[in-house]
Amino acid sequence: MSTLEIKNLHVSVETEDGEKEILRGVDLTINSGEVHAIMGPNGSGKSTLAYSIAGHPKYQITEGEVLLDGEDILELSVDERARAGLFLAMQYPVEVPGVSVANFLRTAKTAVDGEAPKLRTWVKDVNAALERVTLDPSFAQRSVNEGFSGGEKKRHEIAQLELLNPKFAVLDETDSGLDIDALRVVSDGVNRYTAQGDRGVLLITHYTRILNYIKPDYVHVFVAGRLAESGGQELAEQLEAEGYDKYVKAAAAL
Ligand SMILES: Nc1ncnc2c1ncn2[C@@H]1O[C@H](COP(=O)(O)OP(=O)(O)OP(=O)(O)O)[C@@H](O)[C@H]1O
Ligand SMILES: [Mg+2]
Repeated sequence: MSTLEIKNLHVSVETEDGEKEILRGVDLTINSGEVHAIMGPNGSGKSTLAYSIAGHPKYQITEGEVLLDGEDILELSVDERARAGLFLAMQYPVEVPGVSVANFLRTAKTAVDGEAPKLRTWVKDVNAALERVTLDPSFAQRSVNEGFSGGEKKRHEIAQLELLNPKFAVLDETDSGLDIDALRVVSDGVNRYTAQGDRGVLLITHYTRILNYIKPDYVHVFVAGRLAESGGQELAEQLEAEGYDKYVKAAAAL
């Protein structure tokens, strides 16, 4: 069993007007086997949380801890965090011209496992992973995300998730921009991953629609840089009906 603990996390970014605090004391514990959904208004800091866990250099941790099985991962480089078992599917996946999907995936797998996957089985594994997310095998030879449609980028992230098979996956709006069929394909991929039983997911989303396919154990409301409320699936339904208004007002009154 593994645990990802976020304790009193404060994060700032450097802006033209000086330091700006975005995360203002995030507390969240994810155990393996659990799916946590985070919902919150635009600009509340959800992606900042995802990037901070993954180790993006733009985000300065000013206070707090992120522990993976008790080890402080904030001391680790991005690579070391991936090797420790963390994975981030970005809201806006970056294009990497000149690097093919096949090479990218192999390099990532080698970095995570500490040894290169066997070439013969690897090609098969990659093609199977692409096929499961309904991407044509020809995508393996294309530059990473270059010219991919929004939905193709998201499906490629799920192929990565399945091939790298991390302990914990942070999925930042992996459902945005997907058509109805792609939403199902992506959800099926996440469900295959969680069906292993000992994996943890932090699923950032704006839409309750994906929560019909991926059943969260916990739903959290994220407002103004911290968690405002936690509950079960019923909380997502309440948000869908009532919006974030009450939480935004309560946060502003603090
Ligand atoms: N370099 C920066 N300079 C100034 N503000 C920044 C910078 N980086 C992030 N921010 C601000 O931090 C806040 C949180 O951004 P973040 O992307 O984490 O929000 P989000 O909750 O993911 O929103 P969305 O739902 O739209 O994806 C936003 O107001 C954003 O403008
Ligand atoms: Mg975001």
